[in-house]
Amino acid sequence: MLRLSGKSLKEILRSSHISSIPQSLRILLACVSSYETTIVEGNIVKPCKTNMQIRTERKVGRTGVMLVGLGGNNGSTCVAGAIANKLGLTWETKEGTQKANYWGSLIMASTIKLGNDCCGNSVYTPMSNMLPLLKPEDIVWGGWDINGCNLGDAVKRAKVLDYDLQSKLYPYMKEIKPLPSIYFPDFIAANQGDRADNILTGTKQEQMEQIRNDIRDFKANNRLDKVILLWTANTERFSAVEEGVNDTAENLLSSIEMGEAEVSASTVFAVASILEGSTFINGSPQNTFVPGVIELARQKKVFIAGDDFKSGQTRMKTVMVDFLVSAGIKPVSIVSYNHLGNNDGKNLSAPSQFRSKEISKSNVVDDMVASNRILFEEDEQPDHVVVIKYVPCVGDSKRALDEYTSEIFMGGKNTIVMHNTCEDSLLATPIIYDLVILGELCERVTVKKEGEAEWESFHPVLSLLSYMLKAPLVPHGAPVVNALFTQRCAIVNFMRACLGLAPDNHMTLEHRFE
Ligand code: NAI
Repeated sequence: MLRLSGKSLKEILRSSHISSIPQSLRILLACVSSYETTIVEGNIVKPCKTNMQIRTERKVGRTGVMLVGLGGNNGSTCVAGAIANKLGLTWETKEGTQKANYWGSLIMASTIKLGNDCCGNSVYTPMSNMLPLLKPEDIVWGGWDINGCNLGDAVKRAKVLDYDLQSKLYPYMKEIKPLPSIYFPDFIAANQGDRADNILTGTKQEQMEQIRNDIRDFKANNRLDKVILLWTANTERFSAVEEGVNDTAENLLSSIEMGEAEVSASTVFAVASILEGSTFINGSPQNTFVPGVIELARQKKVFIAGDDFKSGQTRMKTVMVDFLVSAGIKPVSIVSYNHLGNNDGKNLSAPSQFRSKEISKSNVVDDMVASNRILFEEDEQPDHVVVIKYVPCVGDSKRALDEYTSEIFMGGKNTIVMHNTCEDSLLATPIIYDLVILGELCERVTVKKEGEAEWESFHPVLSLLSYMLKAPLVPHGAPVVNALFTQRCAIVNFMRACLGLAPDNHMTLEHRFE
């Protein structure tokens, strides 16, 4: 039994956790959890229960995160945010004094309902309090950029953070310089060419070896236990998936060796990361994870997760359409229009990079639509159009206009229109923290099903991170879940299971009977 006594949950867990399993000192918690599902076979519906033990390693370890695209708006804001929080910085704005926070981060700024107190009141705890987790301010940040600008100046260039904060951060960031990166001009927009002044030379194989060396050096120089890589560089065009080129791990490795043109920079980074045993997360929409990468990750048992941060418009869409369809309302048209003026927008103004984004944004309501055959016929979809325009004047302050038209009761029509204005990188940065924190946690969790001898890690394709991703990559054959609160529930209930707590079923039967 978990006993609450006014202490932090971590203290409680240290003193009274559930365990029937012999533990080494490094194991925080080994608890028995019962995983209940429902199997439907034809007309037969069967409850199914699997008992399993879940263990979570206590020690987070010194963790480094290497961002590809370190000097970009997201990259620089991410490091700036972590430093500002670490130093507890405050700064002046026209609204008054502002202080550093983690708002927008699921893990750092949201809470989980633990249960009820004896009077029936809900008791919440910060999600970050549930298990030992990495903190953004403890991360050692580094990475690569094809542009050599130091991070102090990159923050100024991004124009995302307030001026006073930029100035306060400058002394801490000016010495951080991105490592030279891989630049294959064919994969990103031609308008990025003048940015590319910090690039590796040599063959594809040599460049990959250099990235591997960089990871090793970063780990050794900072005495790190582990390194995680995350792509937040420009959106690339899709690579063609071709037999013999990138369809298997073996073919992909030999394609890199042969300098095959169709292997993108992000794929080379993913391969380097996997070969170094580092989790690789893709925050952009392109198909970095060609079949050869996925096979390599499985062979090497290294985690990969992607694709494309789910930060603004799509996040709202995966709430709105879930609400409509689950309320029995039929969305028949979703039209999304964006304009933005940052470098991401400039890159996306080229047709093949826009196409990557369009693909990533296009399937985000499929699972919700397919869940309701009363409203939608098999293969029926709402009209769904996405437009993105580059308007330099608005900078990072992206505008998203969405129109949802739905059919309602007795042939009626309902149109909902939304206009969202927000600094894009202030939405994406907390998501980067969440991806890394959750990805790192997954490295420390193993599961043993009843009757089995071996402890198992997560599947190398880390679908638990889907909440933060627009086009979630899932293990082959697994369903893709886009609905935001279903994705959140998966994370919450997974954390509860790590503590031996039942999933929150929201029935509150204790309040519904006399
Ligand atoms: P940005 O253009 O400000 O930053 C990208 C950085 O990557 C630039 O500094 C560029 O020099 C660098 N770069 C390009 N190719 C590189 C390579 N091969 N190696 C190393 N560095 C390279 O863009 P921003 O706004 O930071 O966005 C980054 C990525 O995140 C984009 O792909 C964007 O589509 C994606 N994304 C952003 C979201 C958001 O900001 N809310 C949401 C979803 C995805």
